[in-house]
Amino acid sequence: MSNVKRVAVTGAAGQIGYSLLPLIANGGIFGPNVKVQLQLLEVTPVLNALNGVRMELEDCAFPLLHGVVCTDDPKVAFKDADLCLLVGSKPRGPGMERKDLLQDNGKIFIGQGRAIAEAAGPDVRVVVVGNPCNTNCLIAMKNAKGVPAERFTAMTRLDQNRAKAQLALKAGAHWSDVKNVIIWGNHSNTQYPDWHHATIGGKAAAQAVNDDAWLQGPFLKTVQERGKAIIEARGKSSALSAAQAAVDHAKSLYTVHTAADSVALCVYSDGSYGTPEGIVSGFPCTTDGKGNWKIVPGLAMNEFSKQKAAITWKELLDEREMVKDLLG
Ligand code: NAD
Ligand code: LMR
Repeated sequence: MSNVKRVAVTGAAGQIGYSLLPLIANGGIFGPNVKVQLQLLEVTPVLNALNGVRMELEDCAFPLLHGVVCTDDPKVAFKDADLCLLVGSKPRGPGMERKDLLQDNGKIFIGQGRAIAEAAGPDVRVVVVGNPCNTNCLIAMKNAKGVPAERFTAMTRLDQNRAKAQLALKAGAHWSDVKNVIIWGNHSNTQYPDWHHATIGGKAAAQAVNDDAWLQGPFLKTVQERGKAIIEARGKSSALSAAQAAVDHAKSLYTVHTAADSVALCVYSDGSYGTPEGIVSGFPCTTDGKGNWKIVPGLAMNEFSKQKAAITWKELLDEREMVKDLLG
């Protein structure tokens, strides 16, 4: 089994799970030469549906898929896991903000953090997708005694992908030409998608777009409210794009990213850029290809950026206060 990566996915029978599992089984995270074992967690009443997902995975005959474990026991799901994707939790519905989910979802991450500490592999990495993902990540991290905080990240990659797409569409470019958009703060409508260091085809994004009013207004709002727009259109929250972003995020940890093409990760704050310490906040990060990240140092932030960042950091402090009894 040593050449097989064990990937635990929680909420695996949910809508993100249904898009995510084939991407992982097809080598989307560890590449075309690494076999994967999927270790799938669901709540007990959903095990039958999960078994249906297992049947479908078998029926795909993915060359890289080594095995599928289905369980309602977190310790079985996380056993020796190299990577845990924590998706399982309620999504919001129309008229809700993501932080309204904290009451119901926050407590899930206490038990899962503990189970990761007890059962996961010695080099585990944990990616939190379930909302509100920053603060859920903080809960899991604080309850996973003995697992270093750096192993935990939460997902703003979807916001970064959304920001890249909006910039490309406006500039008449392709989204793959857009680099270095930063997502500061919370995966919520206070997030700050910062274009000031972004490039489009090697040119400063502000120059390529040539419309500051659009950048400061409609661009920001579209990215901040994109999740809500999808819920209004689909009646359900994003799943296909969320699954792709989760794979992009996890793959970024195992590939090298330099400061010229930084990745959006929410990580435990060390106070960089004036971010309050002890929250899980979005930063521009480099990665070393071995599962490790660093916050990109030394980027300039103008007054506009400082003001926007302060709003989203404050929200993360408020969320932390709301869950202070869950932090282990
Ligand atoms: P869903 O309701 O379709 O699926 C969630 C699944 O989780 C369900 O099958 C449910 O049974 C399962 N579940 C609930 N509690 C669990 C537990 N304790 N252990 C294991 N499984 C559990 O929801 P979805 O659309 O797949 O979304 C899942 C989460 O991801 C939501 O919180 C959603 O808001 C969030 N999300 C985050 C992002 C992001 O960018 N960070 C993007 C999209 C969705
Ligand atoms: C998203 O950004 O699409 C997700 O976080 C789902 C949501 O609640 O908006």
